[in-house]
Amino acid sequence: MDTKAVLSQDKTFVGSDTCKMCHLEHYDSWKMTQHSRMIQDASANRDVLVTAIDEKRIREDLAKLEKKLKVPSSEIYIPTEDEILYTIGSQWKQRFIVKKDDTLFISPIQYNVETDRWVNYHEADWNKRPWLLKCGGCHVTGTDLEKQTFTEPGVACESCHGKGSWHAALPKTAVFEKRQTIVNPAKLPSGVAQQICGSCHNRGKAKKMKGAGWPVGYEPGKALSAFYNQVSYAGGKKKYLYSNEFSKGHHQQHIDWAQSPHSKEGVTCTSCHYVHQIGIPQTRSQTQAAGSAQCAQCHEMVNRNGAHAIHSFANCVGCHLPRIAKSAEIGDIRSHTFIALLPQETIDDPTIPNSCTSCHKHKDADLEKLQAAYEKLTQRPRPQGEIINPVDYK
Ligand code: HEC
Ligand code: HEC
Ligand code: HEC
Ligand code: HEC
Ligand code: HEC
Ligand code: HEC
Ligand code: HEC
Ligand code: HEC
Repeated sequence: MDTKAVLSQDKTFVGSDTCKMCHLEHYDSWKMTQHSRMIQDASANRDVLVTAIDEKRIREDLAKLEKKLKVPSSEIYIPTEDEILYTIGSQWKQRFIVKKDDTLFISPIQYNVETDRWVNYHEADWNKRPWLLKCGGCHVTGTDLEKQTFTEPGVACESCHGKGSWHAALPKTAVFEKRQTIVNPAKLPSGVAQQICGSCHNRGKAKKMKGAGWPVGYEPGKALSAFYNQVSYAGGKKKYLYSNEFSKGHHQQHIDWAQSPHSKEGVTCTSCHYVHQIGIPQTRSQTQAAGSAQCAQCHEMVNRNGAHAIHSFANCVGCHLPRIAKSAEIGDIRSHTFIALLPQETIDDPTIPNSCTSCHKHKDADLEKLQAAYEKLTQRPRPQGEIINPVDYK
């Protein structure tokens, strides 16, 4: 097909199976990431359910929450395995998509993986919250709200690279044209590339569609702020942020990061995380190195003062990315401001957690003491003795 004919057609989504034909390595490694598994087709493969849908067991768990429920635990709608069309998530929690009146909805139950616990999810209004409108753009690829369709479940190639029909149709030999017809985040200004991740790892409201929680109309390479209003504590979203604007809710890494010293120096999500794992051993959360080694890639030297001087170990992540946000249960995911929170923060505002009590639990009751010990031990040594005359040093 000649280039002109290709470019005269509308640009559309073609799906990752098409990309696979020429980019097998990228496809294969993307398949190993959570992005590819976000939404899974349960009617095609029952194994995507991380646990059995056992109605009796689910109602028992819900009954423990009775006081908080807006619908009695015995009456909450529980889908049968056959009614579940897709699963949402698999790592921290799983939710289930069902169809009602030709529209996809999120059924009102949630399974928390680490604690093996069933909890309620919008039990009173679940059938008034269409899944595609509320969540679609962040969880599937090629969402079309007008037609009520999407092209592929999960966060696939074209979520980050944009519509690929022109690029895929051009002959392999048209290398330059091919490069120009697809978004390569590595070739965008880093702030613009960062917004691709920020289009989903974020919380807010669509500017161009009422009721949508994702940036309807945004495409990789565009300015996110034209499509999205991000939440903040100051703006009233106290459910999702602490009073110091650190995240309490999940999928808010971009909000945290934007306040971090890293954002000012252009250290972005992909400085630390891979999205297709080529030539890198697999790690938890797709970091390019595991644990502190991730930080040591750049922070070759760390000052032996302050908190660093009184700890014999160097688990950077434990203090600088404390688990203070919530996906399924409180404190199961991390802060991304990279700022260690001292006990003083909690003393000043008890609703703000700190980086220390995850280990210093026995001192929980007395944060003042921990703070005082910290201050005493971290005083910088003062010069000792008499003033020495440099002449004596000859
Ligand atoms: C017919 C083969 C073919 C298909 C199908 C294909 N690509 Fe490519 N792709 C190429 C070639 C050839 C290049 C250029 C390689 C180079 O720069 O040396 C390329 C380059 C790229 C680049 C880098 C562009 C740049 O500026 O560096 C990205 C990103 C990319 N492809 C993504 C995709 C995605 C996403 C899909 C599916 C929507 C896809 N490709 C489908 C052949 C293909
Ligand atoms: C979550 C976002 C995301 C997804 C999903 C994704 N990519 Fe990428 N891709 C990137 C980023 C970011 C880069 C820039 C290089 C980097 O940081 O790894 C990139 C770079 C590339 C390149 C350029 C060569 C390179 O490795 O730098 C190709 C080709 C490519 N991706 C193909 C694909 C294909 C094919 C898929 C689906 C099977 C895919 N990508 C899925 C974000 C993504
Ligand atoms: C279209 C929405 C979307 C985009 C764009 C996106 N992500 Fe994600 N990301 C998700 C979702 C949804 C999950 C949760 C997947 C799951 O747990 O099944 C996720 C999970 C992750 C994880 C956790 C993986 C794990 O193993 O726990 C990392 C790290 C991540 N994304 C980084 C990135 C980076 C870096 C970018 C930008 C290059 C990016 N994401 C772009 C939606 C997106
Ligand atoms: C602005 C984008 C966005 C919107 C809107 C959104 N999510 Fe997510 N969701 C994410 C990202 C990114 C992650 C993974 C990172 C995290 O949880 O911090 C995630 C994670 C999840 C997980 C946990 C995945 C796992 O493997 O444990 C579930 C379940 C989930 N979302 C359900 C929903 C539902 C249901 C809706 C709609 C009511 C929704 N989300 C709306 C971006 C979004
Ligand atoms: C300076 C390095 C760094 C940067 C920059 C960074 N992350 Fe992370 N991220 C980490 C580390 C370290 C972990 C925890 C890994 C572990 O548990 O072993 C993590 C964990 C995660 C997780 C898993 C959930 C959790 O909290 O455990 C997600 C999702 C994620 N990051 C997304 C992002 C996104 C999106 C961006 C950009 C807005 C980003 N990260 C920027 C280092 C970084
Ligand atoms: C890609 C390189 C890179 C990686 C990886 C990285 N950093 Fe940084 N970090 C920087 C740069 C650049 C700065 C800003 C300059 C400076 O203050 O050193 C910075 C600043 C910081 C600061 C603030 C310093 C200050 O003076 O206030 C902290 C804290 C920090 N990083 C912690 C971490 C932690 C923890 C990790 C691992 C999860 C990490 N960084 C990974 C490059 C990196
Ligand atoms: C026990 C908790 C703790 C651990 C572990 C820790 N930090 Fe820190 N770090 C802090 C605190 C608290 C500060 C704020 C300054 C102070 O009072 O020391 C800080 C400050 C910093 C700063 C900015 C100031 C400076 O001293 O350069 C950087 C950069 C940094 N840490 C990186 C790291 C890296 C990299 C690691 C892992 C090798 C690490 N930290 C391990 C608590 C910790
Ligand atoms: C990962 C676990 C962990 C975290 C997080 C942690 N500590 Fe510690 N802390 C220890 C251990 C273990 C020791 C004993 C000394 C050693 O082996 O390094 C210690 C020693 C101390 C001491 C010295 C004497 C004592 O026992 O009272 C103080 C003070 C202290 N930590 C304060 C802090 C502060 C402040 C923070 C938060 C910024 C913090 N720690 C975060 C584990 C931790």
